[in-house]
Amino acid sequence: MSVDNILNRLSELKVRALQSLNGIDDIEALDSWRVDYLGRRGELTQILRGLSDLDNDDRRHVGSLANNIKSELEQSLSDHQQSLKDRELAGRTQFDVTLPGRSIDMGRLHPTTQIVREICDAFVSMGFQIAEGPEVEWDRYNFEMLNIPKDHPARDMWDTLWVDYKDNNGDTPMLLRTHTSPMQIRIMEDSEPPIRVIVPGKCYRYEATDATHEWHFYQVEGLAVGEGITFADMKGTLFEFARIMFGSDRKVRFRVDYFPFVEPGAEMAIDCFVCKGSGCRVCKNSGWIEIMGAGMVNPKVLEGVGYDSSKYTGFAFGMGPERIAMLKYGIDDIRLFYSNDMRFLRQF
Ligand code: FA5
Repeated sequence: MSVDNILNRLSELKVRALQSLNGIDDIEALDSWRVDYLGRRGELTQILRGLSDLDNDDRRHVGSLANNIKSELEQSLSDHQQSLKDRELAGRTQFDVTLPGRSIDMGRLHPTTQIVREICDAFVSMGFQIAEGPEVEWDRYNFEMLNIPKDHPARDMWDTLWVDYKDNNGDTPMLLRTHTSPMQIRIMEDSEPPIRVIVPGKCYRYEATDATHEWHFYQVEGLAVGEGITFADMKGTLFEFARIMFGSDRKVRFRVDYFPFVEPGAEMAIDCFVCKGSGCRVCKNSGWIEIMGAGMVNPKVLEGVGYDSSKYTGFAFGMGPERIAMLKYGIDDIRLFYSNDMRFLRQF
């Protein structure tokens, strides 16, 4: 090959190599470029091998030019390599350290959980213990042992969701408990007086919903049994509870009510928080919102669990925590509690 030919090939190679290097934007492709142009089998090495045919002067001249090109290509390779590394690093660290961090959405307790805990604390401060029981319950505990036999009209007071389950032992049917009162029986069956216990838990009723009625809701049951317990003890306990929960300025009303498992029975109500007693949608124009049923434990119920009703007396009560939260926080629709609207839930 003539000297001119070799010189042409060298300058053409240099232009092509630099052009191709400029188009490379990842480190792996750079390595194959190095093998193609500068490697032992690369184009430049091939050209240099052919110099042995030239005479000494030409070989020196072409050799020095080829070595310059080689150095130039090596330098360009190393510069390009550095700029790719810099670019990658810049991409990785491209954030503004002065920006405020992303806020973490903190979870919180459901308003019902909060109010149930508050109610429990109020009674614990008066010496009550806390117990829990099953939501799927036997008819025997939910009704029969509470003095509500099968054909008793009081069963209509608790529209029931029945569970399709037949027990082999011929036991009574099962249901979703309509109130927490069955726990009165379970507790008395398992222990001896004196008893002072409260039972928070979920209840279910097959009924249409409105501003103050849900088909599933909570109750907190209370039971105190011992020697010499009177109606005055019950009133004193429940007035103290109302004072702790609502302060001393709220009005409390006690009226006679009927529940087959208490005698006498009562209903406790608080003056309506919306209309302050003048009558509105929330209190159904009565001026009062009923928060619990209560009464002296019926002697028949005490006898049913094997207690001597001439020795022991007691009182029981059952309240709706959602209704109490409504009074405390001015919530005008009970359905807000379980409709999962975050705008409502975030306020607590
Ligand atoms: C009872 O369930 C009785 N077991 C209460 C009781 C216990 C009386 C011990 C005597 C002795 P009542 O059905 O009234 O009673 O319900 C009690 C409370 O639960 C009500 O005052 C109310 O606050 C709440 N409650 C009842 N039904 C609903 C409902 N559908 N939605 C929301 N809360 C309710």
